Parts: sequence; structure tokens; C-alpha cells
Amino acid sequence: MPTSTPQSAPTNVEKKDLLYKGKAKSVYTTDHDDYLILHFRNDTSAFNGERVEQLERKGEVNNRFNAFIMQKLAEAGVETHFERQLSSDEVLVKRLEMIPVECVVRNYSAGSLVRRLGLEEGQALNPPTYELFFKDDALGDPMVNESLSVSLGWATPEQLEQMKALTFKVNDVLSGLFEAGDLMLVDFKLEFGVFHDRIVLGDEFSPDGCRIWDKATKKKLDKDRFRQSFGDVYESYEEVAERIGVL
Ligand code: TMP
Repeated sequence: MPTSTPQSAPTNVEKKDLLYKGKAKSVYTTDHDDYLILHFRNDTSAFNGERVEQLERKGEVNNRFNAFIMQKLAEAGVETHFERQLSSDEVLVKRLEMIPVECVVRNYSAGSLVRRLGLEEGQALNPPTYELFFKDDALGDPMVNESLSVSLGWATPEQLEQMKALTFKVNDVLSGLFEAGDLMLVDFKLEFGVFHDRIVLGDEFSPDGCRIWDKATKKKLDKDRFRQSFGDVYESYEEVAERIGVL
């Protein structure tokens, strides 16, 4: 667990034990209490882990993509857990106490919103909407709200307010970034945690956790290609990366 005084990011880190194996990433402890190593695997899952496949090089693409986005967000004043890339598929991050809530912004209708309300896909949402989901695969990540999140002790009202403001800030920064690549940021999911009493952006930002469409053709270039078995998943992620300037 993090100590009360944050250590500065270590220059040398030793990977220790597997702390947690997620659907696409594994998390390792290090010889520094305040820091963890994330390993981006090639596993790609859909439907809350019901379908899992290996997609060659996806771990590397997502690691590069995430590093680029996290650095853009830090430059815009959003504190993130990202410290530095350690290898093609590993990154050093701050160790957060994660809040078990997924924060979703939608700029256009898609996915579960379309299914829930019977909307046409691609309808502009003005202003963009904000939703919370409880992070629990067994329950299918059910929709929750701020009141419930406070009542169940997941976060304080102040923390939830900060998470909402930060999620909209991320939307402003990233909508512009994708727009410059003639892409639409349709929706995305963020996860936050607490690092020494501060709300910090955790997890990852990659085409696995957002929807990105080509602006002119509305072609899907994100994980929906995997969910809907369209193929060319990794190639589409690479195309998005190139179009927004990921080196
Ligand atoms: P949804 O339409 O399935 O509710 O998803 C909205 C956005 O959030 C979409 O970009 C996918 C992302 N998301 C995840 O990456 N993981 C999740 O567990 C959930 C609920 C959403």
C-alpha cells in the first residue's frame, strides 16, 4: 500500500510479484511501494471476458497509444498514474487505490446507450452525457449513479465531483486531438484512483476502452471491430495511432 509520503518515481525498478491479472493487462508489484508495473498483453476480450483471443502486437500498440495519450493529458493538467514506458509492452505507474467505478462520456450514441434507449447509432449528444458503471464483470458492469457510489462507500461526493470534471476535461482535450486526425471520439471509459489523497487518472486509454470512427465514412476503428468480428483490429488501432501522431 502507498505510504503517507509519496516517493519520487524511481529510476531503477525491479519487477516483483504478480498482483492482479486483468483481461488485457497484468499488474506487478515493484521494489517501490508507490509504484507498479503494468504489462499490456495481446489478449483481447469482449462481453465481460466471455470471448478472449490473442491479437499479435496488440499489447505493444496499446502501450504506445496509452503512453502518448497519458502524456498529452498530463500536459493539459490532468494528473495520471503514468510515469514512463519500460519496454515495448510494459509501463511504470503510480500505485493507486482504485475506485470501482467506470466513468463514461458519450459524444455520440452507440453501444449500450443505443440498446438501452433504442436510439439510432451516431446521434450527436449535446451536451455530451456522463454515466457511471460499477466495475464488476460477473454483474456485467451495471449502471450506477453518484448517490449509490457514496452510499456504498466507493467514493466521497468531492471525489466523484473531481472525477466528473476531469472526465469532461479529458473529453475536451482528446476530442480535439482525434478531430485533428479526421476522427470522431464517440465515447470512452476512464478509471480513477487515489494516490496520497489525490484523485489521479489510472488504468489505460487505448482503442480497447473507447469508440473512434472515421469522420467521413463512420468506419469503426476501435474494439467494436473485435466485438462485432469485423477483423483488422490491430491494423485499425495502428491507423488511429498514425492519424493522431503516435510515433
Ligand atoms: P458501452 O456503450 O458498452 O456502455 O461503453 C461505453 C464506452 O466505454 C465504450 O467506449 C466502451 C467503454 N467501456 C469499456 O471499455 N469497458 C467497460 O467495462 C465499459 C462499461 C465501457
